[in-house]
Amino acid sequence: MTNFLVENINHIKNLSRSEFESLYEFTQVLNTASGQESLIEDAIDIVIKVINAERGLFVKYDDLTDTFAIISARRISNESITDLHQFSSGILQKVIKEKKPLLYHDVMSDPNLSQFESVQIHRIKSVIGVPIVRDQKVWGVIVADSQLDRREFTEENLLFLSFFSNLVSLALDRILKMEELEKENQILLNRLQSTEEVPEMIGYSPVIRNLAQLIHKVAQTDATVLITGESGTGKEVVAKAIHALSKRKEKPFLAQFCGSIPDSLLESELFGYKRGAFTGANVDKQGLLEAADNGTFFLDEIADISQALQAKMLRVLENREIIRLGDVKVKKIDVRMIAATNKDLQHLVKSGEFREDLYYRLNVFPIKMPPLRERRDDIPILAAHFVRKISGKDIPIDTAAIKKLEAHYWPGNVRQLINVMQRALILCDSNKIYVDHIILEEEKSLENFNGTLGEFEVLLLKKRLEQFNGNRTLTAKSLDVSVRWIQLKLKELGIQ
Ligand SMILES: Nc1ncnc2c1ncn2[C@@H]1O[C@H](COP(=O)(O)OP(=O)(O)OP(=O)(O)O)[C@@H](O)[C@H]1O
Ligand SMILES: [Mg+2]
Repeated sequence: MTNFLVENINHIKNLSRSEFESLYEFTQVLNTASGQESLIEDAIDIVIKVINAERGLFVKYDDLTDTFAIISARRISNESITDLHQFSSGILQKVIKEKKPLLYHDVMSDPNLSQFESVQIHRIKSVIGVPIVRDQKVWGVIVADSQLDRREFTEENLLFLSFFSNLVSLALDRILKMEELEKENQILLNRLQSTEEVPEMIGYSPVIRNLAQLIHKVAQTDATVLITGESGTGKEVVAKAIHALSKRKEKPFLAQFCGSIPDSLLESELFGYKRGAFTGANVDKQGLLEAADNGTFFLDEIADISQALQAKMLRVLENREIIRLGDVKVKKIDVRMIAATNKDLQHLVKSGEFREDLYYRLNVFPIKMPPLRERRDDIPILAAHFVRKISGKDIPIDTAAIKKLEAHYWPGNVRQLINVMQRALILCDSNKIYVDHIILEEEKSLENFNGTLGEFEVLLLKKRLEQFNGNRTLTAKSLDVSVRWIQLKLKELGIQ
């Protein structure tokens, strides 16, 4: 038998039928209390009801500092709270010591208590203190007073309150444990969100970590997301991640690149068509938006769509409705929309090129991708990541090479970094990537080359090697030189 039962079995035996029934009622009240506060409120009400008191108070006890704090009060004005608190401090001390309910009769004639103003003003005759215990310590005390001299309140009645006090303590224990667990759970969830990676998105910089949190949050909703950012910053990576982290992950993720595609083609791709809608439409065809039903649709480069298509897209975003070309039937679709652009949509709205209403429909949850140069901390791990991904090996990158990567402006962002690492891998011969293997094409490109003949030779050689994935035989053939010449040249350049 649990301690609780052993302690209380005798109390139960001594309860009258009506007390027992009241207790049964109280247990139900206490069991439904979902938080500390509601439990305390309910408990005060019950004590007031049982002893027919006029006023009630709950004080929390801090055993470390041996102090009390008033948490809740009933029918007590603010001014008399301090007074009541003072006069009841003797009672509180005693309750804490004995850990059981105590009742004082005839308070007015007790010289220790009658000096208090509230006792005189409110003509208090009796006071009761009921402890609420947690982990064998008094956690708080319910104090109630009455203008009646409750001499009829016997020791047996106190037993009832004692039993009640134990029940409240049990309920409190349950609630506090629950509250602690909830808090812990919240902290853990939060921690998970902040460290949990976004699929395919590498980066530990504060910007990327914030972004990861945002992505995790928005993925849980169906909100339309507008991803903006320079070319190669990972807009598509984010769109896919939102889908993969959402409840739609098992459903399709479909994307349509909207840049530089003839309007009619784009429209039939997105909306589908009915047979006979135009020459060549021999069968009914479902559009991508329809095919993405229950899933996610990614409108890539949304800034490039025509005014006519903008109006049609507005309808999709507003009503989730589509009409196939040449059809009259309206179809409902359930699709989460994500759009991306590297253009300044707001600017396009101002110049009248992009519909304002569509812009607001898209910009429900904006995500701005930072350019790589604004998160240079991530460059070393990104570089190492791509080396591993491309070569399948962990090829070390020399410090000077890393420095060069970190110092670059990266107009092409992550995509450009991938290209640079790919080139470096071809040139490095699987040993180690040195600074010479890092070729940043902005410095020297074949188109607007204005260097010396020797430099041109080197540049052309590197480009061809890159083109043929480092294959020296093919490179030699394309340059109409011998493989030996290539080997010598590379040796001369310090490229292994
Ligand atoms: N944080 C990242 N971690 C790993 N790979 C990344 C990251 N960001 C981008 N990439 C990679 O960089 C390349 C470019 O990313 P993505 O296509 O998503 O960019 P984008 O913003 O859509 O570019 P664009 O505007 O040119 O379409 C992809 O190969 C992608 O996998
Ligand atoms: Mg893209």
